[in-house]
Amino acid sequence: MSSTGRPVSLGAERAKRDENTTTQTSEPAAPGFPSVRMRRNRRADWSRRLVAENALTANDLIWPIFIVDGDNVRAPVESMPGVDRLSVDQAVAAATEAVELNIPAMAVFPYTEPALRDDAGSQAFNPDNLVCQAVRAIKESVPDIGLICDVALDPYTSHGHDGLMSGDKIDNDRSLDALVQQALVQTEAGADIIAPSDMMDGRVGAIRAALEQAGHKDTQIMSYAAKYASAFYGPFRDATGSSSTLKGDKRTYQMDPSNTDEALREVELDIAEGTDMVMVKPGLPYLDVVRRVKDAFAMPTFVYQVSGEYAMLMAAAQNGWLDGDRVILESLVGFKRAGADGILSYFAPQAARLIAQAH
Ligand code: PBG
Repeated sequence: MSSTGRPVSLGAERAKRDENTTTQTSEPAAPGFPSVRMRRNRRADWSRRLVAENALTANDLIWPIFIVDGDNVRAPVESMPGVDRLSVDQAVAAATEAVELNIPAMAVFPYTEPALRDDAGSQAFNPDNLVCQAVRAIKESVPDIGLICDVALDPYTSHGHDGLMSGDKIDNDRSLDALVQQALVQTEAGADIIAPSDMMDGRVGAIRAALEQAGHKDTQIMSYAAKYASAFYGPFRDATGSSSTLKGDKRTYQMDPSNTDEALREVELDIAEGTDMVMVKPGLPYLDVVRRVKDAFAMPTFVYQVSGEYAMLMAAAQNGWLDGDRVILESLVGFKRAGADGILSYFAPQAARLIAQAH
């Protein structure tokens, strides 16, 4: 309200003040106040719940897990406190837990024994590799969980890169054939969603064409569409064993953290090539990208709260510097606010339990 009692827009009020800077003394410091009190809606818990714009549910969560060879093994990942590499039987137990917690899907990553890694990433095409074993075992015991398999060669190559190398360069087009083979092997093992994370040009189209040709017309693709060359992947590479194998960095294929227009082009291309869902990665430092992607394309949009984000929050929580439970939920609802439909997070089971407790 204005001082004369007539409602005016804040803009008009401000313009008037600016015009007449010498007589501003009678203007209220906060023009809407006390008619407008933002705190009214925040006063009670029921009211805060009523006006909440976004909500996180277990349905929004994808739980990434790491598979290791052996039986009854849970091998801790040092840089990811609380995360273990799981043998296939333990992965089945985790899938059972995920279903109980209402988590719709899991993403499966392997730790490959060093002796099995080679230049060509041959294990990626072995229909009996750890990922395929885990997918078959989980699908047999827990058929109702969605399973996502990563397409990229880094857990299998002796050089730690996502594609094949020719000399000291990543060879885009030769890599495509390998990635297609990997995707087919995973699909035949029972993967529901193929998630190319390699960032080679043309890979979504190549995988989609191969899936169609092989009769896998219902297999979904979730492309890591805007994936940045990020230092936040460090602990993941510890978990998969590629920290020690990786030669150089991934900047010739993953995106420059300075860019967002480029992210829109990447997403647009993946959609044109036949992806069903798109992903932005990492998460917290890239919320602006999530928002732009969602606004521009209205696609099912996912975000990956990556290993380094998990490690940061866990380290601070373990030191007593942050309230772990609260920062987990706050960071996850932040992704929803930015426009994400779902979140890949190592916190998935913990978050699902917290959500269940809150009801
Ligand atoms: C493999 C891949 C990576 C992640 C997912 N798939 C690492 C990388 O690109 O080096 C990162 C996930 C995380 O940090 O949690 N291409």
